[in-house]
Amino acid sequence: MKPSHQIVQLVPLGAPMDDALAQRYSVLRLTDAADPSARLAEAPDARVLITSVRRGLERQWLERLPGLAAVCSWGVGYETLDIEAARQRGIAVSNTPGVLDNCVADMAWALLFSVARRSSMGDRYVKTGQWGAGGGFPLGVRVWGKKLGVAGMGRIGSAIAARAAGFDMEVRYHNRRERPESPYAYEDSLAGLARWADFLVMACPGGPETRGIVNRDVLRALGPDGILVNISRGSVVDEAALVEALRNGELGGAGLDVFENEPHVPEALRNMDHASLMPHVSSGTRETREDMGRLVLENVVSFMETGRLATPV
Ligand code: 8YV
Repeated sequence: MKPSHQIVQLVPLGAPMDDALAQRYSVLRLTDAADPSARLAEAPDARVLITSVRRGLERQWLERLPGLAAVCSWGVGYETLDIEAARQRGIAVSNTPGVLDNCVADMAWALLFSVARRSSMGDRYVKTGQWGAGGGFPLGVRVWGKKLGVAGMGRIGSAIAARAAGFDMEVRYHNRRERPESPYAYEDSLAGLARWADFLVMACPGGPETRGIVNRDVLRALGPDGILVNISRGSVVDEAALVEALRNGELGGAGLDVFENEPHVPEALRNMDHASLMPHVSSGTRETREDMGRLVLENVVSFMETGRLATPV
C-alpha cells in the first residue's frame, strides 16, 4: 500500500528545504499545478498544507483536505489566506515574520534613494548614451537631514526607521495604536504624518482595513516635494490618485515595490522618471529567501512533532 501523504506542498521553499522536507515526510508536491484543487483529493490524510502569501489559501481547498490541521505559509503577509475558513475548522496557520524585516527595510531605502537621488534614472541616462549628448542630468533632492514618516510601526517599520539614524533624519510614525515604547513621535492620522514628512514610507499590512488609505488627501498633504515609498501592499495606495498626483505635480515622486493589480503596472507609472518601480521583491535576497524557506520548514516540523507552530499568525 502506498503511504498516504502527510504534507501537501503548493509552493517551493528552495532546493535545500524542499529536499529536507521530502526526506522527512511523504509530500504531495503540487508546486507546478496551476490549480491544485483537483489534486488535493489525493491527500485526504495530509496534516499540513504549505502555501505562500502569493498563492494564498482558499476555503474550497480546506474542504478537500479532511485531515488538515495546519497551514504553513511562506511570506509575512497573509491577506490572501482565508484565515477565517481555517479558524472555523480549527486549522492553525503560520507565516514567516522577522526574517525578512531588514531586507524589506533596505529596499524601502533603495527606492527612496532611487527617486530622491535619481539613481535608476542616472543608470538609464548613462547606459543609453545620453551623458555628454547635450542637456544636463536633473538635480535630485537631499535625503539626509529630512523628515521621515513611517506608516505602520511593526517589525518592518521599525527596521526602516532605525536606518534613518545613519542619515541624521527625524522620524515620526502613524500606526493603528500608538506604541509608547517607540522612540519616535506619534502622529494620530496618516494625513497628519504626510503633512509633516518629506518622505512617507508605507509599511503597514494589506487587507480591507488599510485599503486605499493613501488617498488623494494624503498625497496632497505629502506635497509637490514629497516622496511616497510603498513596500507594503499595492492595495494601501489609491493607484489612480497616485498617478494623477505624480502627473500634475501634486506629489514629488514615488518608489514602489508593490501595485494594486500585480503584475499589471499602469503605463503612466512606467513612463515617469519620478517613479522608481520594482517587481515586488523587497524580501528577494538569496539569504532572506533561504531564511523564509527554513522558517516554513521549522513550522512544519514543529507542528508534526509537537502539534504547535513556531510562528503562528
Ligand atoms: C514577497 C511578501 O516578496 O512576505 C511577504 O508578505 O510580500 C514578500 O516577502 C512576496 O510575497 C513575493 O511576491
